[in-house]
Amino acid sequence: MSADLLAHVPGDRGWPLVGHTLMFVRDARGLTERHRRRYGDVYRMRVLGREGVTFLTPQATREIYLDPGKVLSSEGGWSSSIGPLFRNGLMLRDFDDHHRHRRVMQQAFSRAALTGYVDAIHDVTDRHLRSLPAGDVDVYVLMKRLTLDIAAEVFVGVSLGEQSERVNQAFQAAVAASITPLRVALPGSTYRRGLQGRAELTRVFGELVAQRRREEPRGDLLSRLAHATTEDGELLPVDDVVDHMVFLMLAAHDTTTSTLAVMLWQLALHPAEQDRVAEEVRALDGAPVTPADHGRLEHTTRAMQEALRLSPPVPFSPRHALADVEITGVRVPAGHGVNVSSLALHRHPDWWTRPDAFDPDRFAPGREEHKQHSHLFVPFGGGAHLCIGNHVAEVMVKAIVARLLAGRRVTADPAAGVVIRAVPIPKPRGPMLLTVR
Ligand code: HEM
Repeated sequence: MSADLLAHVPGDRGWPLVGHTLMFVRDARGLTERHRRRYGDVYRMRVLGREGVTFLTPQATREIYLDPGKVLSSEGGWSSSIGPLFRNGLMLRDFDDHHRHRRVMQQAFSRAALTGYVDAIHDVTDRHLRSLPAGDVDVYVLMKRLTLDIAAEVFVGVSLGEQSERVNQAFQAAVAASITPLRVALPGSTYRRGLQGRAELTRVFGELVAQRRREEPRGDLLSRLAHATTEDGELLPVDDVVDHMVFLMLAAHDTTTSTLAVMLWQLALHPAEQDRVAEEVRALDGAPVTPADHGRLEHTTRAMQEALRLSPPVPFSPRHALADVEITGVRVPAGHGVNVSSLALHRHPDWWTRPDAFDPDRFAPGREEHKQHSHLFVPFGGGAHLCIGNHVAEVMVKAIVARLLAGRRVTADPAAGVVIRAVPIPKPRGPMLLTVR
């Protein structure tokens, strides 16, 4: 038997063969909390065949995200879960190659590009909300449809229409496959359906990229990416643009859906907080939310931050040590995993007052609990892989909440017992019902 190179790290190896995978998939929050209580802020864990060390302090989070020695691979960290399904996406690239691609992609995320997306985001939102009847609605399902249509029109520049359901299914199959413990494409298996979903997305985006290349540049994200150039003035190969687009759907869609659902659900449960947000968004008087509005929408901003704190859409950032590395004094040998967990950090009792409570004012001047450390509140990550779409996400979430709450009120039953599964991207286990008036 090979030597246990993590013997110096507290923790256990979980079950034979699968390690902690099943517990992680079923209840990542519970598992993380149990390990924190038993072993402290640094412990070992074995998930999806990767054995590694999880760090729950902001100091370690900073060291891992900034990775001054360039020895922590994001590709190596993410490949065991999303690798084959979302291959060559930006998060699955490292160091110089990542930097080169990120610079090209940045052209689709510039301030000018974002300004161009704002109107389309509002148009799609208004269209959806016009047909929203008063009464009960599953807020997760509603937000999912809305964000998919926004992704289609704003990012891809098409109205997916009939294709929408097929694309959504292909996409969902790929996401579900990313955490299935059985990673063999047996007939009928989740993993096989995921790979088929990936193939379908590749086909759809392949046709669209080729079409955009034949046309004059337009304002949608796909067109911007299809026409973006490297420092040498060269276009990216079509396959690279396709891979980036498939990954962008993953990065943009379920993350914003989850943020919106959790935010609206919490506002429904906390009427006084909803009143503050409603008053603020009504003052916009129908004007669109722009990137410059974030200062004006201070209650909305804090409610969004609080939703991201309680239920971070990317609950873990895994990395793979390419060489021996020391993180806050703990040695991680080459070949092992290193995990950052916003899921645990955002509710760490050493840092937050009443960590499980929805309390947007913890972000307000005078309290600013998140400012105790630069890497305590990290919903969008940090360092080289910091979310490239964070401003798009902010505008999208606030625009939808603003349009919804300017003329409506939402309530929810506090006894409904909604349980949110944290990984791969937070999702309620059952219906998340809101009553809209
Ligand atoms: C509330 C919504 C969102 C949250 C919380 C979020 C969070 C994150 C986090 C934590 C990472 C880094 C993961 C890591 O370092 O391991 C990331 C990366 C990324 N996100 Fe987001 N994201 C959101 C929305 C979006 C949107 C709307 C887009 C695009 C339109 C997007 C595109 C990306 C991309 C391309 C990366 C990879 C960046 C890189 O590797 O350089 N995200 N996101």
